[in-house]
Amino acid sequence: MHGHWSSRAAFILAVTGSAVGLGNIWKFPYITGENGGGAFVLLYLGCVFAVGMPILVSEVLLGRRGRRNPIATMAILGQEEGGSRHWRLVGTMGVIAGLLILSFYSVIAGWSLAYALKSAVGSFAGTDARSAAFEFFTFTGNWKALLAWHAVFMAMTVFVVAAGVQHGLERAVRVLMPLLVVMLLVLVAYSARYGAFEETLVYLFKPDFSELSGESMLIALGHCFFTLSIGMGVVMAYGAYLPEGTSIAASSLTVVLADTVIALLAGMAVFPLVFGNGLNPAEGPGLVFETLPIAFGQLPAGSVFGTVFFLLLTFAAWTSAIGLLEPAVAWIVERHQRSRVVGAVVVGGLTWLMGLATVLSFNVLSDLRFGRGTLFQNIDFLASNILLPASALLITVFAGWIMCRNSSSEELAMGSGLLYKGWRLLSRVVAPLAILVIAFRAVGVI
Ligand code: PHE
Repeated sequence: MHGHWSSRAAFILAVTGSAVGLGNIWKFPYITGENGGGAFVLLYLGCVFAVGMPILVSEVLLGRRGRRNPIATMAILGQEEGGSRHWRLVGTMGVIAGLLILSFYSVIAGWSLAYALKSAVGSFAGTDARSAAFEFFTFTGNWKALLAWHAVFMAMTVFVVAAGVQHGLERAVRVLMPLLVVMLLVLVAYSARYGAFEETLVYLFKPDFSELSGESMLIALGHCFFTLSIGMGVVMAYGAYLPEGTSIAASSLTVVLADTVIALLAGMAVFPLVFGNGLNPAEGPGLVFETLPIAFGQLPAGSVFGTVFFLLLTFAAWTSAIGLLEPAVAWIVERHQRSRVVGAVVVGGLTWLMGLATVLSFNVLSDLRFGRGTLFQNIDFLASNILLPASALLITVFAGWIMCRNSSSEELAMGSGLLYKGWRLLSRVVAPLAILVIAFRAVGVI
Protein backbone atom coordinates (compact mmCIF):
# COMPACT_ATOMS: atom_id res chain seq x y z
CA MET A 1 0.00 0.00 0.00
CA HIS A 2 1.18 3.52 -0.59
CA GLY A 3 2.08 6.18 1.95
CA HIS A 4 0.06 9.03 3.34
CA TRP A 5 0.70 12.54 4.60
CA SER A 6 1.21 12.91 8.32
CA SER A 7 -1.22 15.84 8.55
CA ARG A 8 -3.37 18.28 6.64
CA ALA A 9 -0.64 20.89 6.88
CA ALA A 10 1.82 18.49 5.27
CA PHE A 11 -0.56 17.96 2.38
CA ILE A 12 -1.09 21.68 1.89
CA LEU A 13 2.65 22.29 2.00
CA ALA A 14 3.30 19.53 -0.50
CA VAL A 15 0.69 20.73 -2.97
CA THR A 16 1.87 24.30 -2.55
CA GLY A 17 5.42 23.07 -3.05
CA SER A 18 4.39 21.43 -6.29
CA ALA A 19 2.42 24.48 -7.39
CA VAL A 20 5.10 27.04 -6.66
CA GLY A 21 7.97 26.51 -9.04
CA LEU A 22 9.63 27.65 -12.22
CA GLY A 23 6.10 28.52 -13.34
CA ASN A 24 5.88 31.30 -10.78
CA ILE A 25 9.38 32.65 -10.79
CA TRP A 26 10.74 31.95 -14.28
CA LYS A 27 7.71 31.53 -16.54
CA PHE A 28 5.13 33.93 -15.11
CA PRO A 29 7.36 37.01 -15.41
CA TYR A 30 8.46 36.21 -18.95
CA ILE A 31 5.05 35.37 -20.36
CA THR A 32 3.61 38.44 -18.66
CA GLY A 33 6.36 40.41 -20.36
CA GLU A 34 5.63 38.81 -23.73
CA ASN A 35 1.90 39.41 -23.41
CA GLY A 36 1.98 43.04 -22.41
CA GLY A 37 1.63 43.16 -18.60
CA GLY A 38 -1.50 44.15 -16.61
CA ALA A 39 -4.27 42.87 -18.88
CA PHE A 40 -2.59 39.49 -19.06
CA VAL A 41 -2.21 39.39 -15.27
CA LEU A 42 -5.91 40.11 -14.86
CA LEU A 43 -6.85 37.39 -17.32
CA TYR A 44 -4.56 34.97 -15.56
CA LEU A 45 -6.14 35.79 -12.19
CA GLY A 46 -9.61 35.23 -13.68
CA CYS A 47 -8.54 31.84 -15.04
CA VAL A 48 -6.99 30.84 -11.73
CA PHE A 49 -10.06 31.53 -9.63
CA ALA A 50 -12.89 30.64 -12.01
CA VAL A 51 -11.32 27.71 -13.82
CA GLY A 52 -8.20 26.54 -12.01
CA MET A 53 -9.57 26.44 -8.51
CA PRO A 54 -12.70 24.30 -9.15
CA ILE A 55 -10.57 21.90 -11.20
CA LEU A 56 -7.99 21.69 -8.45
CA VAL A 57 -10.79 20.74 -6.05
CA SER A 58 -12.05 18.14 -8.53
CA GLU A 59 -8.66 16.61 -9.00
CA VAL A 60 -7.95 16.25 -5.29
CA LEU A 61 -11.44 14.87 -4.85
CA LEU A 62 -10.89 12.19 -7.49
CA GLY A 63 -7.51 11.32 -6.03
CA ARG A 64 -8.82 10.82 -2.53
CA ARG A 65 -11.79 8.81 -3.71
CA GLY A 66 -9.68 6.55 -5.91
CA ARG A 67 -6.75 6.27 -3.50
CA ARG A 68 -4.43 4.94 -6.20
CA ASN A 69 -2.02 6.30 -8.76
CA PRO A 70 -3.83 8.56 -11.28
CA ILE A 71 -4.16 5.91 -13.98
CA ALA A 72 -5.70 3.33 -11.64
CA THR A 73 -7.81 5.98 -9.93
CA MET A 74 -9.39 7.07 -13.21
CA ALA A 75 -9.91 3.42 -14.24
CA ILE A 76 -11.66 2.53 -10.98
CA LEU A 77 -13.75 5.66 -10.71
CA GLY A 78 -14.58 5.47 -14.40
CA GLN A 79 -15.90 1.97 -13.87
CA GLU A 80 -17.80 2.81 -10.68
CA GLU A 81 -19.29 6.09 -11.72
CA GLY A 82 -19.33 6.09 -15.49
CA GLY A 83 -19.39 2.42 -16.44
CA SER A 84 -16.17 2.59 -18.42
CA ARG A 85 -12.57 1.91 -17.54
CA HIS A 86 -11.50 3.95 -20.56
CA TRP A 87 -11.41 6.99 -18.30
CA ARG A 88 -8.00 5.68 -17.33
CA LEU A 89 -6.75 7.30 -20.54
CA VAL A 90 -7.28 10.65 -18.83
CA GLY A 91 -4.89 9.51 -16.13
CA THR A 92 -2.43 8.24 -18.72
CA MET A 93 -2.53 11.48 -20.67
CA GLY A 94 -1.89 13.43 -17.49
CA VAL A 95 1.08 11.28 -16.50
CA ILE A 96 2.58 11.65 -19.97
CA ALA A 97 2.07 15.43 -19.95
CA GLY A 98 3.76 15.51 -16.54
CA LEU A 99 6.83 13.64 -17.79
CA LEU A 100 7.07 15.83 -20.89
CA ILE A 101 7.01 18.87 -18.64
CA LEU A 102 9.57 17.35 -16.29
CA SER A 103 11.88 16.71 -19.25
CA PHE A 104 12.30 20.43 -19.93
CA TYR A 105 11.65 21.55 -16.37
CA SER A 106 14.73 19.78 -15.12
CA VAL A 107 16.88 21.35 -17.84
CA ILE A 108 15.84 24.87 -16.83
CA ALA A 109 16.25 24.02 -13.15
CA GLY A 110 19.76 22.87 -14.08
CA TRP A 111 20.48 26.36 -15.50
CA SER A 112 19.32 27.80 -12.24
CA LEU A 113 21.66 25.58 -10.27
CA ALA A 114 24.54 26.60 -12.51
CA TYR A 115 23.66 30.29 -12.15
CA ALA A 116 23.54 30.02 -8.35
CA LEU A 117 27.09 28.75 -8.47
CA LYS A 118 28.22 31.38 -10.99
CA SER A 119 26.79 34.10 -8.82
CA ALA A 120 28.36 32.71 -5.65
CA VAL A 121 31.85 32.76 -7.17
CA GLY A 122 31.32 36.34 -8.26
CA SER A 123 31.10 35.85 -12.03
CA PHE A 124 28.45 38.52 -12.38
CA ALA A 125 30.45 41.34 -10.82
CA GLY A 126 30.33 44.34 -13.13
CA THR A 127 28.27 42.51 -15.77
CA ASP A 128 26.56 44.70 -18.37
CA ALA A 129 23.77 43.88 -20.81
CA ARG A 130 26.13 42.66 -23.50
CA SER A 131 28.24 40.46 -21.32
CA ALA A 132 25.15 38.96 -19.61
CA ALA A 133 23.63 38.06 -22.96
CA PHE A 134 26.96 36.67 -24.09
CA GLU A 135 27.34 34.64 -20.90
CA PHE A 136 23.86 33.15 -21.33
CA PHE A 137 24.54 32.42 -24.96
CA THR A 138 27.83 30.65 -24.28
CA PHE A 139 26.39 28.78 -21.33
CA THR A 140 23.33 27.48 -23.21
CA GLY A 141 25.50 26.88 -26.26
CA ASN A 142 27.42 24.19 -24.42
CA TRP A 143 25.17 21.17 -24.58
CA LYS A 144 27.42 18.98 -22.49
CA ALA A 145 27.28 21.40 -19.59
CA LEU A 146 23.49 21.69 -19.87
CA LEU A 147 23.14 17.94 -19.92
CA ALA A 148 25.35 17.60 -16.85
CA TRP A 149 23.39 20.20 -14.82
CA HIS A 150 20.16 18.57 -15.95
CA ALA A 151 21.55 15.27 -14.64
CA VAL A 152 22.42 16.78 -11.26
CA PHE A 153 18.96 18.22 -10.83
CA MET A 154 17.24 15.02 -11.95
CA ALA A 155 19.34 13.05 -9.48
CA MET A 156 18.22 15.36 -6.64
CA THR A 157 14.60 14.77 -7.64
CA VAL A 158 14.95 11.00 -7.92
CA PHE A 159 16.63 10.94 -4.53
CA VAL A 160 13.68 12.56 -2.75
CA VAL A 161 10.99 10.59 -4.55
CA ALA A 162 12.80 7.31 -3.88
CA ALA A 163 12.80 8.11 -0.15
CA GLY A 164 9.01 7.99 0.03
CA VAL A 165 6.05 10.17 0.92
CA GLN A 166 6.84 11.06 4.52
CA HIS A 167 10.59 10.61 4.56
CA GLY A 168 11.23 12.17 1.19
CA LEU A 169 8.47 14.43 -0.09
CA GLU A 170 7.20 15.69 3.22
CA ARG A 171 10.58 16.35 4.74
CA ALA A 172 11.77 18.22 1.66
CA VAL A 173 8.80 20.59 1.55
CA ARG A 174 8.85 21.26 5.28
CA VAL A 175 12.38 22.62 5.03
CA LEU A 176 12.30 24.19 1.59
CA MET A 177 8.98 26.02 1.53
CA PRO A 178 9.52 28.36 4.51
CA LEU A 179 13.03 29.06 3.25
CA LEU A 180 11.64 29.97 -0.11
CA VAL A 181 9.13 32.45 1.27
CA VAL A 182 11.78 34.20 3.35
CA MET A 183 14.19 34.44 0.41
CA LEU A 184 11.48 35.83 -1.84
CA LEU A 185 10.48 38.51 0.65
CA VAL A 186 14.09 39.57 1.08
CA LEU A 187 14.41 39.87 -2.69
CA VAL A 188 11.25 41.94 -3.08
CA ALA A 189 12.54 44.31 -0.42
CA TYR A 190 15.86 44.50 -2.25
CA SER A 191 14.16 45.20 -5.59
CA ALA A 192 11.90 47.81 -4.04
CA ARG A 193 14.95 49.55 -2.63
CA TYR A 194 17.17 49.45 -5.74
CA GLY A 195 14.79 48.96 -8.67
CA ALA A 196 11.92 50.72 -10.45
CA PHE A 197 9.17 49.60 -8.13
CA GLU A 198 6.44 52.07 -9.05
CA GLU A 199 6.83 51.39 -12.73
CA THR A 200 6.49 47.70 -11.93
CA LEU A 201 3.22 48.20 -10.06
CA VAL A 202 1.77 50.12 -13.00
CA TYR A 203 3.01 47.47 -15.42
CA LEU A 204 1.56 44.57 -13.46
CA PHE A 205 -1.69 46.06 -12.26
CA LYS A 206 -2.81 48.62 -14.81
CA PRO A 207 -4.44 46.65 -17.61
CA ASP A 208 -4.15 47.69 -21.23
CA PHE A 209 -6.49 45.41 -23.13
CA SER A 210 -5.24 46.42 -26.54
CA GLU A 211 -2.24 44.17 -25.84
CA LEU A 212 -4.34 40.99 -25.59
CA SER A 213 -4.85 38.46 -28.38
CA GLY A 214 -6.78 35.18 -28.54
CA GLU A 215 -3.41 33.52 -28.25
CA SER A 216 -2.71 35.39 -24.99
CA MET A 217 -5.90 33.92 -23.59
CA LEU A 218 -4.75 30.40 -24.36
CA ILE A 219 -1.37 31.15 -22.80
CA ALA A 220 -3.05 32.50 -19.65
CA LEU A 221 -5.27 29.43 -19.40
CA GLY A 222 -2.45 26.99 -20.05
CA HIS A 223 -0.34 28.77 -17.48
CA CYS A 224 -3.13 28.59 -14.92
CA PHE A 225 -3.02 24.78 -15.18
CA PHE A 226 0.75 24.70 -15.29
CA THR A 227 1.20 26.85 -12.22
CA LEU A 228 -1.45 25.08 -10.15
CA SER A 229 -0.03 21.71 -11.25
CA ILE A 230 -3.40 20.50 -12.47
CA GLY A 231 -4.33 18.26 -15.37
CA MET A 232 -1.40 15.89 -15.02
CA GLY A 233 -2.34 13.67 -12.14
CA VAL A 234 0.05 15.33 -9.72
CA VAL A 235 -2.52 16.61 -7.27
CA MET A 236 -4.54 13.47 -7.90
CA ALA A 237 -1.58 11.42 -6.71
CA TYR A 238 -1.08 13.75 -3.74
CA GLY A 239 -4.82 13.63 -2.96
CA ALA A 240 -4.59 9.85 -2.72
CA TYR A 241 -2.34 10.23 0.32
CA LEU A 242 -4.72 12.65 2.03
CA PRO A 243 -6.31 11.54 5.31
CA GLU A 244 -10.11 11.24 5.50
CA GLY A 245 -11.92 14.16 7.02
CA THR A 246 -9.61 16.86 5.67
CA SER A 247 -11.46 19.67 3.96
CA ILE A 248 -10.54 19.54 0.30
CA ALA A 249 -12.02 22.93 -0.52
CA ALA A 250 -10.24 24.79 2.26
CA SER A 251 -6.91 23.13 1.45
CA SER A 252 -7.30 23.95 -2.23
CA LEU A 253 -8.13 27.58 -1.53
CA THR A 254 -5.02 27.90 0.61
CA VAL A 255 -2.89 26.46 -2.18
CA VAL A 256 -4.37 28.73 -4.84
CA LEU A 257 -3.89 31.84 -2.71
CA ALA A 258 -0.32 30.92 -1.83
CA ASP A 259 0.56 30.18 -5.45
CA THR A 260 -0.95 33.42 -6.71
CA VAL A 261 0.68 35.59 -4.06
CA ILE A 262 4.05 34.01 -4.76
CA ALA A 263 3.74 34.57 -8.53
CA LEU A 264 2.90 38.24 -7.97
CA LEU A 265 5.76 38.60 -5.49
CA ALA A 266 8.10 37.04 -8.05
CA GLY A 267 6.92 39.65 -10.54
CA MET A 268 7.69 42.31 -7.97
CA ALA A 269 11.16 40.90 -7.43
CA VAL A 270 12.02 40.56 -11.13
CA PHE A 271 10.47 43.55 -12.95
CA PRO A 272 11.86 46.39 -10.80
CA LEU A 273 15.35 45.18 -11.74
CA VAL A 274 14.34 44.81 -15.39
CA PHE A 275 12.86 48.32 -15.64
CA GLY A 276 15.43 49.91 -13.36
CA ASN A 277 18.15 48.79 -15.75
CA GLY A 278 16.33 49.64 -18.96
CA LEU A 279 16.02 45.98 -19.95
CA ASN A 280 13.36 44.40 -22.13
CA PRO A 281 10.47 42.66 -20.28
CA ALA A 282 9.56 40.69 -23.43
CA GLU A 283 12.93 38.98 -23.51
CA GLY A 284 11.45 35.43 -23.44
CA PRO A 285 12.67 32.32 -21.60
CA GLY A 286 16.05 33.90 -20.96
CA LEU A 287 14.46 36.78 -18.99
CA VAL A 288 15.64 36.02 -15.47
CA PHE A 289 18.93 34.57 -16.69
CA GLU A 290 19.88 37.36 -19.05
CA THR A 291 18.59 40.35 -17.18
CA LEU A 292 18.98 39.73 -13.48
CA PRO A 293 22.74 39.07 -13.53
CA ILE A 294 23.16 42.63 -14.85
CA ALA A 295 21.25 44.03 -11.94
CA PHE A 296 22.98 41.78 -9.45
CA GLY A 297 26.31 42.63 -11.03
CA GLN A 298 25.87 46.31 -10.29
CA LEU A 299 24.03 46.51 -7.03
CA PRO A 300 25.47 46.38 -3.51
CA ALA A 301 25.96 42.81 -2.27
CA GLY A 302 24.65 41.70 -5.66
CA SER A 303 26.50 38.42 -5.72
CA VAL A 304 24.93 37.39 -2.40
CA PHE A 305 21.45 38.32 -3.59
CA GLY A 306 22.05 36.74 -6.97
CA THR A 307 22.99 33.49 -5.29
CA VAL A 308 19.91 33.72 -3.08
CA PHE A 309 17.71 34.31 -6.11
CA PHE A 310 18.96 31.35 -8.12
CA LEU A 311 18.91 29.07 -5.10
CA LEU A 312 15.32 30.13 -4.54
CA LEU A 313 14.50 29.24 -8.11
CA THR A 314 16.22 25.88 -7.76
CA PHE A 315 14.41 24.99 -4.52
CA ALA A 316 11.06 26.01 -5.95
CA ALA A 317 11.74 23.86 -8.99
CA TRP A 318 12.85 20.95 -6.84
CA THR A 319 9.61 20.65 -4.86
CA SER A 320 7.70 20.83 -8.16
CA ALA A 321 9.83 18.30 -9.98
CA ILE A 322 9.22 15.87 -7.13
CA GLY A 323 5.50 16.20 -7.85
CA LEU A 324 6.00 15.67 -11.56
CA LEU A 325 7.86 12.42 -10.98
CA GLU A 326 5.52 11.02 -8.31
CA PRO A 327 2.50 9.89 -10.41
CA ALA A 328 4.54 7.72 -12.76
CA VAL A 329 6.51 6.27 -9.86
CA ALA A 330 3.32 5.53 -7.93
CA TRP A 331 2.03 3.76 -11.02
CA ILE A 332 5.13 1.58 -11.31
CA VAL A 333 5.08 0.75 -7.61
CA GLU A 334 1.38 -0.16 -7.54
CA ARG A 335 1.00 -1.73 -10.94
CA HIS A 336 4.30 -3.49 -11.37
CA GLN A 337 5.10 -4.14 -7.72
CA ARG A 338 8.54 -2.58 -7.89
CA SER A 339 10.20 -0.64 -5.12
CA ARG A 340 10.03 3.17 -5.10
CA VAL A 341 13.78 3.27 -5.65
CA VAL A 342 13.56 1.26 -8.86
CA GLY A 343 10.53 3.25 -10.03
CA ALA A 344 12.17 6.60 -9.36
CA VAL A 345 15.46 5.66 -11.00
CA VAL A 346 13.83 4.20 -14.12
CA VAL A 347 11.35 7.03 -14.70
CA GLY A 348 13.90 9.69 -13.78
CA GLY A 349 16.45 8.15 -16.17
CA LEU A 350 14.03 8.01 -19.07
CA THR A 351 12.86 11.56 -18.48
CA TRP A 352 16.46 12.71 -18.29
CA LEU A 353 16.99 11.24 -21.76
CA MET A 354 13.88 12.99 -23.06
CA GLY A 355 15.39 16.21 -21.75
CA LEU A 356 18.06 15.89 -24.43
CA ALA A 357 15.54 17.39 -26.88
CA THR A 358 15.33 20.56 -24.79
CA VAL A 359 19.07 20.69 -24.18
CA LEU A 360 19.81 20.52 -27.90
CA SER A 361 17.17 23.15 -28.74
CA PHE A 362 19.49 25.80 -27.34
CA ASN A 363 22.58 24.84 -29.30
CA VAL A 364 23.08 22.03 -31.83
CA LEU A 365 19.45 22.10 -32.99
CA SER A 366 18.72 25.79 -32.40
CA ASP A 367 18.11 26.35 -36.10
CA LEU A 368 15.56 23.59 -36.30
CA ARG A 369 12.31 25.54 -36.20
CA PHE A 370 8.77 24.45 -36.91
CA GLY A 371 5.29 24.99 -35.45
CA ARG A 372 5.89 27.06 -32.32
CA GLY A 373 9.60 27.55 -32.80
CA THR A 374 12.34 25.35 -31.42
CA LEU A 375 11.90 21.77 -30.28
CA PHE A 376 11.71 23.01 -26.68
CA GLN A 377 9.00 25.54 -27.52
CA ASN A 378 6.97 22.83 -29.25
CA ILE A 379 7.26 20.44 -26.33
CA ASP A 380 6.21 23.18 -23.92
CA PHE A 381 3.28 24.17 -26.13
CA LEU A 382 2.12 20.60 -26.62
CA ALA A 383 2.25 19.81 -22.91
CA SER A 384 1.16 23.11 -21.36
CA ASN A 385 -1.26 24.47 -23.92
CA ILE A 386 -2.79 21.34 -25.45
CA LEU A 387 -2.47 18.32 -23.16
CA LEU A 388 -3.05 20.18 -19.89
CA PRO A 389 -6.23 22.00 -20.95
CA ALA A 390 -7.53 18.78 -22.55
CA SER A 391 -7.01 16.61 -19.52
CA ALA A 392 -8.20 19.37 -17.18
CA LEU A 393 -11.38 19.56 -19.26
CA LEU A 394 -11.94 15.82 -18.98
CA ILE A 395 -11.27 15.89 -15.24
CA THR A 396 -13.79 18.64 -14.61
CA VAL A 397 -16.38 16.99 -16.86
CA PHE A 398 -15.88 13.73 -15.01
CA ALA A 399 -16.17 15.25 -11.54
CA GLY A 400 -19.07 17.49 -12.48
CA TRP A 401 -21.16 15.41 -14.88
CA ILE A 402 -20.20 11.75 -14.67
CA MET A 403 -19.63 11.32 -10.96
CA CYS A 404 -22.88 11.12 -9.09
CA ARG A 405 -23.86 13.97 -6.82
CA ASN A 406 -23.77 11.83 -3.71
CA SER A 407 -20.19 10.75 -4.28
CA SER A 408 -18.86 14.24 -4.80
CA SER A 409 -20.79 15.85 -1.99
CA GLU A 410 -19.79 13.06 0.38
CA GLU A 411 -16.11 13.39 -0.53
CA LEU A 412 -16.13 17.18 -0.35
CA ALA A 413 -18.09 17.07 2.92
CA MET A 414 -19.66 20.44 2.18
CA GLY A 415 -23.25 19.20 2.52
CA SER A 416 -25.47 20.59 -0.19
CA GLY A 417 -25.05 24.20 0.82
CA LEU A 418 -24.04 27.21 -1.19
CA LEU A 419 -20.36 26.29 -1.33
CA TYR A 420 -21.08 22.92 -2.85
CA LYS A 421 -23.48 24.45 -5.34
CA GLY A 422 -20.86 27.03 -6.24
CA TRP A 423 -18.25 24.36 -6.91
CA ARG A 424 -20.71 22.36 -9.00
CA LEU A 425 -21.65 25.35 -11.11
CA LEU A 426 -18.03 26.25 -11.71
CA SER A 427 -16.90 22.73 -12.51
CA ARG A 428 -19.91 21.72 -14.62
CA VAL A 429 -20.45 24.89 -16.59
CA VAL A 430 -18.00 27.73 -16.12
CA ALA A 431 -14.72 25.80 -16.31
CA PRO A 432 -15.58 23.59 -19.31
CA LEU A 433 -17.08 26.52 -21.22
CA ALA A 434 -14.08 28.71 -20.55
CA ILE A 435 -11.70 26.01 -21.73
CA LEU A 436 -13.70 25.37 -24.90
CA VAL A 437 -14.18 29.02 -25.77
CA ILE A 438 -10.52 29.83 -25.26
CA ALA A 439 -9.41 26.77 -27.25
CA PHE A 440 -11.72 27.61 -30.16
CA ARG A 441 -10.61 31.21 -30.13
CA ALA A 442 -6.98 30.22 -30.20
CA VAL A 443 -7.45 28.06 -33.30
CA GLY A 444 -9.50 30.82 -34.87
CA VAL A 445 -12.92 29.13 -34.88
CA ILE A 446 -14.57 31.91 -32.85
N1 PHE B 1 3.33 24.16 -10.86
C1 PHE B 1 4.70 24.09 -11.20
C2 PHE B 1 5.24 25.46 -11.50
O1 PHE B 1 4.54 26.43 -11.48
C3 PHE B 1 4.94 23.20 -12.36
C4 PHE B 1 4.37 21.88 -12.14
C5 PHE B 1 3.43 21.44 -12.95
C6 PHE B 1 4.74 21.13 -11.06
C7 PHE B 1 2.82 20.26 -12.70
C8 PHE B 1 4.16 19.94 -10.81
C9 PHE B 1 3.20 19.51 -11.64
O2 PHE B 1 6.40 25.59 -11.76
